[in-house]
Formats: sequence, C-alpha cells, structure tokens
Amino acid sequence: MRASHQKIRVRFKKTVSPTYDIRISPGLFGDLPPDIASIVGDARVFVITDANVKRLYGRQLMTGLLNAKVDAWLIDFPAGEASKNSGVVNSLHTQLLEHGVRRNSLILALGGGVVGDVAGYVAATILRGIKYIQVPTTLLAQVDSSVGGKVGIDHPLGKNLIGAFHQPEAVYIDPLVLRTLPEREFRSGLAEIVKIATALDESFFNYLEKNAGKIKQRSLRVLTELITRSVQLKAAVVGRDELETGLRKVLNLGHTIGHAVEAASNYTLRHGEAVAIGLAAESGIARDMGLLSALDYERLLRLMRALRLRTSFPGIRSKEKLRRALSTDKKSIGASMKFVLLNGIGCTLVGVDVPSPFINALVKTR
Ligand SMILES: NC(=O)c1ccc[n+]([C@@H]2O[C@H](COP(=O)([O-])OP(=O)(O)OC[C@H]3O[C@@H](n4cnc5c(N)ncnc54)[C@H](O)[C@@H]3O)[C@@H](O)[C@H]2O)c1
Ligand SMILES: [Zn+2]
Repeated sequence: MRASHQKIRVRFKKTVSPTYDIRISPGLFGDLPPDIASIVGDARVFVITDANVKRLYGRQLMTGLLNAKVDAWLIDFPAGEASKNSGVVNSLHTQLLEHGVRRNSLILALGGGVVGDVAGYVAATILRGIKYIQVPTTLLAQVDSSVGGKVGIDHPLGKNLIGAFHQPEAVYIDPLVLRTLPEREFRSGLAEIVKIATALDESFFNYLEKNAGKIKQRSLRVLTELITRSVQLKAAVVGRDELETGLRKVLNLGHTIGHAVEAASNYTLRHGEAVAIGLAAESGIARDMGLLSALDYERLLRLMRALRLRTSFPGIRSKEKLRRALSTDKKSIGASMKFVLLNGIGCTLVGVDVPSPFINALVKTR
C-alpha cells in the first residue's frame, strides 16, 4: 500500500527578529555593569574580547560586573583579522562549554568589528544560538558592524564567507572609548561613515564636508553626531531588509572593489582603508558609465582627501589579482559583475551590471 503524502507547512510568525535598542552616549561604558546585572539576573555572562581591548577596557568592565554581582567570565583571543577563523571559533566554543554555558547565558562582545563578528557568530552557533550584546569599541564597529546582525568569520577562499544573521539584544556605544583608538583605525571607521552618507543621505554628506576639521580633531560632539546619524541610517535600512534581499545591498557600496582590494593586499590594509579605495574606484566606474556626474565624483574625492582617506592603491594595478579576488566575492554571480553604484550623492543603485571594459579601464588608469 502506498503511504499517503501529507503536506506539513512550517509557519513562522515573524520573518524578522525582535526589535532592540542601540544606545549612544559618551560615558555609557560606566553604566554597563548595573544594566547588564538587571538584564541577566543569575545567568552567566561571557565577555569576549581581543587582547588589546582586554588590556584597555576588559579588566575594568570585569571589575564593574563583579562588583554588580554579575556572574561574569572574560575570554580573549589575539587581536586582528587573522583571528576571524574557525580555529578561534572552535576554541571559544570549547571554553564556553567548559565554563558551563547555558541557553540563558549572555555573550558580551567587547571590541572592534573582529570581536563583534566572531563573538556574534559564537553566540549564533553555540547551543543553537544564545543572546548577545554588542559593545563596539572602534569607530568602524560603532557606526557599522555592531548594527544589523551580520556575524561570521573568514574562510581560506574568501572573507566573511561563513556566517549567520543573528541580531544582538542591545548595542551600547560609548564614543569616549575612541580616545585610545590609533589614527589608522579611526580613519578606517571614517571610510564607512563616508560610505553611509554618500550612499544614503546628502544632508549628512554636507555635514561631513562642513565638519571635516573637527572630525579630524575627534571633537566628541561631532563624533557623537556622526555615530548617531550613521547608526540611524543603517538601522533604518536593516529594519526594512534584515536578510539583505534587496535594499540592504546599498550598504555594500564601495565593497565589491573594496573586498577585492583588501584580499589583494593580503589583508595588510584595514577594512575601512580598502572600502575607501573601493568607494573611489566604484565612483569612477559610475562616472565613466554616465551614472554619476563628474562634479559629484570630484566632490566625493575632495571630502575623502579632506578626511585623509586614501583613494588609490597600487595593488589594484594587478588585473589578475583583482579579477581573482572579485570572482570570489559573494556579490558577483558568474560572468556578469554586479555592482552597487552611485547615481548621485545620497542616491544609490543596486545590481548594476558593469561590463568588463569599465573594470579593465579602471585597472589600467589608476
Ligand atoms: N558585521 C558587519 O556588518 C561588518 C561591517 C563592517 C565590517 N565588518 C568587519 O569588521 C572587521 C573590522 O573591524 P575593525 O576595523 O573594528 O577592526 P578590529 O576589530 O581588528 O579592531 C582594530 C584594532 O583596534 C583595536 N581596538 C579596538 N578598540 C580599541 C580602542 N577603543 N582603543 C584602542 N584600540 C582598540 C583592536 O584590538 C584591533 O587591534 C572586519 O573583519 C570586517 O569584515 C563587519
Ligand atoms: Zn564594510
């Protein structure tokens, strides 16, 4: 007798994750311990950080948490992109399991984008997913990577190829911690801010132009404004397209070439440095394709120069390296190369087919 087939449909009540708050305020870092205490109760908190941030802020946070009677453990790994791998994730899984992680435990990701991506991925995968909070400490992480729930690690075949969408419970942003950030890291974060403004909001772009001097001096007032506006813009996009099926792709402006340049530099460039180069190069393509006016192109390059962002890199002269790197980029499909391109300042098009002569021309002339 043939068994009759049943159709069982799995229905999800929600297609998006619950909402969460992003708090931004100078001095917020000091408020963390009592806040965390009230969120977790008796549950164990695992603070995951890198070796640098542990020294600068990790120990201080642990003292605060223990004083607030939070059951907290601190785990660190070596700083830098090289730690975004399965070996580090495996070691973190082991340490969490050995220290009694439970479904109600909380991970607190304290650090830059690397810590946020790795600790968030560990939170997404351990025991099929536990809660985590982002406490970003680099400008790049504060304006970009801590918001939106993209977590993951690199693979020998490419960057960020292994990962998940796992939204944090909350994000705590304290611009005061940027005081200790090295200049190169600071500029790397500025590149993502310029990307967000250029992609989405001309009035924010105007603000950056007017305040370039104060930005370079790291004026706390101006930095807080930059972070707030960047996060508002990113959160609005992510809220409408959590899983990057459409609109969210605008945030990849500068990243198709940027990721390729980052790989071609063997990751000697900071992520934001590569994004700045990618943004300039892709804007050159948009101008050559008649999508972006020469005036807007010049305006963007002027702002980038005013903020001391590098806009060219000898590595992209190597056609072969660039092509190879582009072909492993997640955003390219087969032979047709899709780009996110500017159609004006604050106006972005996604999924633009770029014929190879435009890419070749860029490689030849820069
Ligand atoms: N998930 C996302 O949506 C997303 C978005 C953008 C970038 N990223 C990822 O973010 C990573 C880059 O992040 P990053 O630029 O923050 O790098 P990072 O995490 O490596 O931090 C840079 C350096 O600054 C140090 N540091 C951190 N905070 C400091 C502070 N307050 N004072 C002094 N030093 C401090 C770190 O120890 C490290 O040496 C890349 O792996 C990139 O792929 C992810
Ligand atoms: Zn980026």
